[in-house]
Formats: sequence, structure tokens, C-alpha cells
Amino acid sequence: MTNEEILQLTARHVAPTYNRFSISMAKGKGCLLWDTEGKEYLDFISGLGVNNIGHSHSFVVDAIKRQAENLIHVSNLFHIPQQAQLAKEIVKRTFQGKVFFANSGAEANEAAIKLARKYGQNQMPGKIEIITAYNSFHGRTLATITATAQEKYQKGFHPLLPGFVYTPYNDISAMEAAITDKTCAVMIEPIQGEGGVNVPSPEYLPCLRRLCDRKGVLLILDEVQTGIGRTGRLFNYQYYDIRPDIITMAKSLGGGVPIGAMLARDDVIDAFIPGSHASTFGGNYLASAAGLAVLEVIDKEGMLENCVCMSDILFKELMGLKGESSVIKEVRGKGLMIGMELHCEGREIVKRCLAKGLIINCTMDNVLRLLPPLIITRKEIDRAMEVLSDAIKDFQG
Ligand SMILES: Cc1ncc(COP(=O)(O)O)c(C=O)c1O
Repeated sequence: MTNEEILQLTARHVAPTYNRFSISMAKGKGCLLWDTEGKEYLDFISGLGVNNIGHSHSFVVDAIKRQAENLIHVSNLFHIPQQAQLAKEIVKRTFQGKVFFANSGAEANEAAIKLARKYGQNQMPGKIEIITAYNSFHGRTLATITATAQEKYQKGFHPLLPGFVYTPYNDISAMEAAITDKTCAVMIEPIQGEGGVNVPSPEYLPCLRRLCDRKGVLLILDEVQTGIGRTGRLFNYQYYDIRPDIITMAKSLGGGVPIGAMLARDDVIDAFIPGSHASTFGGNYLASAAGLAVLEVIDKEGMLENCVCMSDILFKELMGLKGESSVIKEVRGKGLMIGMELHCEGREIVKRCLAKGLIINCTMDNVLRLLPPLIITRKEIDRAMEVLSDAIKDFQG
């Protein structure tokens, strides 16, 4: 099929929920992608934070092939050895608890919301409220758009779910004022991704942990975007001396195979009993085998160390670019989750980068976002910087 035929087929038969570029990708390897016409791209968005280990990593491809040849799916009516092993590996790298498997970030958060409500109700009837932050993003199901405190995602879908309260991000006093006897949990991204790569002050998460302990409220960390090494630790909370009660993850856990997971402290997850929650595909053979391979290869190839090292280089380069350009207001982020806030809209710069073979994106209209794979090299950073600085210079005229 030609690219034109693909575009026509999509327009005719696929729900129009995305503003897509007029490009179809045909192949990927490492940090590179090639479209159906053979043009090469350097991927600095990693499938929106999914391809943290790069495209089609041979270690994960082999694990998926081996698993697919043997068994892809049975059902959660049976024990699934790969699922149990993946849960063990997640716990080993985080904190004691148990894992519920789903297929996406929204579903992982949906599970966390249900669990928090059930746990809260067990403590006191009516203890069901969840506090989230303005500019958060937690997914697109009805519960998770309600948790997502941004009107643009909620418009047209009212009535939303009752029981959600919003506070400003990175504001402990506002959070304290919002907590009542009805609050069962606080749900926060350690760094807001879709909301513009907003990094809280270093004391925010430790203070939030202490506040939740003092008030008897669960702390849910949504690490769907920050997790699986994106910020240089496997999970961002590991930069602090704290543990959440519930953590959600998805995106890069399966290296591109859909999977989501929610880990909760043992006494919290006990609020779920058989029948409380379920997912047909959740943690099936194929997805779990992919997840196991992803975690193993991150360790084996020192990807977290590379992330930290390449982050230093990339931040220095971007700060240099900011010094030369009047359109860049701020460069912020952690590890390889980076936002460049502009004084203007970013869409045109994203398009110019794409034309020159660099994939980035833009959130909140004016924040250019860079999420390169954790395996990025110095040479690839140099190549991206050349394109980015040219695109910004062209744009400035
Ligand atoms: C922090 C966060 N939570 C949840 C989600 C939703 O994940 P999914 O699109 O896999 O449902 C996203 C997606 O961008 C996210 O960034």
C-alpha cells in the first residue's frame, strides 16, 4: 500500500480521534524509524514514552517470539507463571505488595481508583473521595478523565464520576486544606507529563507522603509516564526516601506490547477479593513475557545509567540553545523526560523537526516535549540538537 492509500483507508474506516501526521511508519530499530517511503527519523518521543528500550530490541523481540510460539493467551481462570514472575520482579524493584495487571495506563489507574474506594469504604462508609491535581493526566476512561483535572479532556462527557476533588499541583497547603474525612486517596504524577512536564519542588513528594500518613489517606503515584526508567531511576519516587501505597505503570513496561499494572501495599490490596476487579487480557502470557524481558534488559544493559548520563548532556545542550534563542522560556524535566516551554505555540517547530527527520511533540500548546529512548547515544543527541536548533532558527526567521 502506498502512503496515500493508507491515509485514505484511515480516513474512511478509523475513528477520527487523532490529529495524525500524514506519515506511516514501516520499520523501527533502536532510536530510529523509517516511514513507508523509506525516509529515516530519529525518535525523540519513543511512541509517547513507550519505546524506552528503543524499537524492536532483539532481547525483547526474541522473548516475544518464543512466548508467541508456545502460548499467547489462556485466561486469568488459570495461574500464569510469567504473570507471577513479572509481579515478583516488579515487587523486587519497588516495595512489598501485590500487582493487578491490566492493559494500559488508564486501566491501571482505574484499578487504583477502585481499590482506593474499596479500601476507604472498608474503613468508613463514604470515605471515597480522591484528590488529584490541576493539569494532571490519568487516562481517557470516564473515571480517569474525571481524575484528570483538565477541562479539555472532560468537555462533552458530563456527568462525570462523583468523588473527585482538584487542587493545584506542588501545593502542600492546598492539598492539606482539601483533605477531609471523606478522602480515601491522593493521586499524583511525580512529574506531570501531558500537563507540560511540570517538576514539583524536591520537598513536595516527601511532604505529601507525611501529610497522607498523618491524615490516614492513601498515596497513589501515577508513574505511567515517569516509570520504567524514564527519569533515570526505574520509578521517579525512588529519587526520594518515600514509598507510595499504590503505584501505577504501563507504557514502556511491555516495550510496545500493551500492558498496565497497579502495585499496592499488601494490606491495601487485601480490600480486593475474587470478583472485585478483572481484565480478560490483563497480564497474559505474551504481555508478561514482554514485561519480564523489558525489566531484564534495562538492568542487563545499564539503561538507567545511560539515561542519567545522556540526560546531563542533553540538558546542557538545551540550556545552551535556550541561551541563543528568544523563543525558549524554560527547559525542565528529569532524566530523559524533558519539556521546553516556549513563549509561543510549538506546533510549527514540531512540524519543522519532523520534516528534517526528528520526532518530538508538543503538550499544552507551548511545551515541546522530548522523550528519547533510554539507549540514546551522544551522536544521536548531536544529530537531534542540530535539527532542533535549525528548526527553531527557521521558525524565528
Ligand atoms: C501519567 C499518565 N497516566 C495515564 C496515562 C494513560 O495511559 P494510556 O494511554 O496507556 O491509557 C498517561 C498517558 O499518557 C499518562 O501520561
